[in-house]
Amino acid sequence: MTTLHPTTHDVRALREDELRGAHALFGAALLHGPVSDEQWERARGLYAPGRAFGVHDGPAEGAALIGTAMSFPVEVAVPGGAVLPTAAVTRVGVRADRTRRGVLSALMRHQLGEAAAAGDVLASLRATEGRIYGRFGYGVATRGRSVRVRRTGGSGWRAGAPVGGAVRLLAADEALATLGALHERIGLGRAGGMTRTAPWWRLGLGALLAERTLVLAAVHTGPDGDDGYLVATVDDSRGWDDRVLELRDLHAASAEASAALWRFALDVDLVSAVQARQRPLDEPLDLLLADPRDCAVTDVHDETWLRIVDVPAALGARRFGGAGPVLLAVHDAVLGANGGVYRIAGGEVQRVGELGGAATPDLECDAAGLAMAYLGDRSPSELVAAGWWRAWSPDAVARADAAFATGRLPWCGTNF
Ligand SMILES: CC(C)(COP(=O)(O)OP(=O)(O)OC[C@H]1O[C@@H](n2cnc3c(N)ncnc32)[C@H](O)[C@@H]1OP(=O)(O)O)[C@@H](O)C(=O)NCCC(=O)NCCS
Repeated sequence: MTTLHPTTHDVRALREDELRGAHALFGAALLHGPVSDEQWERARGLYAPGRAFGVHDGPAEGAALIGTAMSFPVEVAVPGGAVLPTAAVTRVGVRADRTRRGVLSALMRHQLGEAAAAGDVLASLRATEGRIYGRFGYGVATRGRSVRVRRTGGSGWRAGAPVGGAVRLLAADEALATLGALHERIGLGRAGGMTRTAPWWRLGLGALLAERTLVLAAVHTGPDGDDGYLVATVDDSRGWDDRVLELRDLHAASAEASAALWRFALDVDLVSAVQARQRPLDEPLDLLLADPRDCAVTDVHDETWLRIVDVPAALGARRFGGAGPVLLAVHDAVLGANGGVYRIAGGEVQRVGELGGAATPDLECDAAGLAMAYLGDRSPSELVAAGWWRAWSPDAVARADAAFATGRLPWCGTNF
């Protein structure tokens, strides 16, 4: 089971006038350069009141900030379609000369406690490194892949691949409002999808529009109206025969809209390839192309690191399949109130006992292991086989697989 760094540091909510300093500390921890006034203007809206925390270099008034973390409130879709209040955790950094002294551990403990008190059921983050957050109960709950699609004469589209609808380019000044409204309508169509706030858009797309020479924003219209969009940029430092379209964002409500948007991207003149990161693992690009080898999967990576802040609420909100009962013991080293034995049967979840009590569990996991199965990315049997879950009753593994099965891989597609 997880053990946490013993060092304690005082953590407190940062005042409004301390936020820019916190943002600069985070930027430096990520090895970015100084934050310009213009960048801060775009970033500041993401800081929600009372949700940015700091650790200072000692108790004295005016002591320097040495570590920070914040979150902004969003909602995340879970299997069955419910959307749960979620802390989108970001801007995490510790000053380079104060690392490995427990500063992050203190921030994480404090932040999770505050998230629970604020009613967040989940917390979600994107990690710079894979070894940082597991100890705090975060697990990889959605994954994405990087793809590069080569353009070999025309778009290389397979005859018979879905086609239809119309794609229109947006002017820069209409992109923010149009895409924001469209994502709100279609962005939570699968488990893992996350709402985007206006400050997120100002930072995500606003920064692209301000800093890149060319940004293509396009909307697909299908039989029922606008049903998908893409945002792409081009690196124009390369020669005419080597221009790559970087697909930054693509959300679609249907397979047809998704195919049409990919086809549009591949048909842009003077583009030799289209590449994208953080695409769903099940996006069927190779099936759409005349030559499936034109699509190379260049990487598979973790996307959502999920922390279940309120286990009873999260289990209660998610749809479970299967009929047979599963008794699952959940351990939580940080938020002890989540610990207990949960009975999942006939789609219902009930907490039936304390850890070590009379209810004998079939299966056992910690918060990170639960997060990995929660949205449907990993099955209980995979997690048992890898030692993330323990099975006391081998028969229960198949029942747990049936209970947690979702039929479609989760995916988010929103970076922050
Ligand atoms: C990642 C970071 C925030 C960790 O902060 P920190 O204050 O050093 O973390 P802690 O001292 O609380 O570490 C807690 C434990 O995690 C381990 N740990 C922390 N960061 C780690 C890393 N990057 N790789 C491996 N282990 C790490 C520590 O060794 C420690 O283990 P221990 O309890 O067995 O001693 C800090 O190194 C940092 O700012 N990195 C650069 C910016 C960044 O990547 N931020 C994260 C954005 S998602």
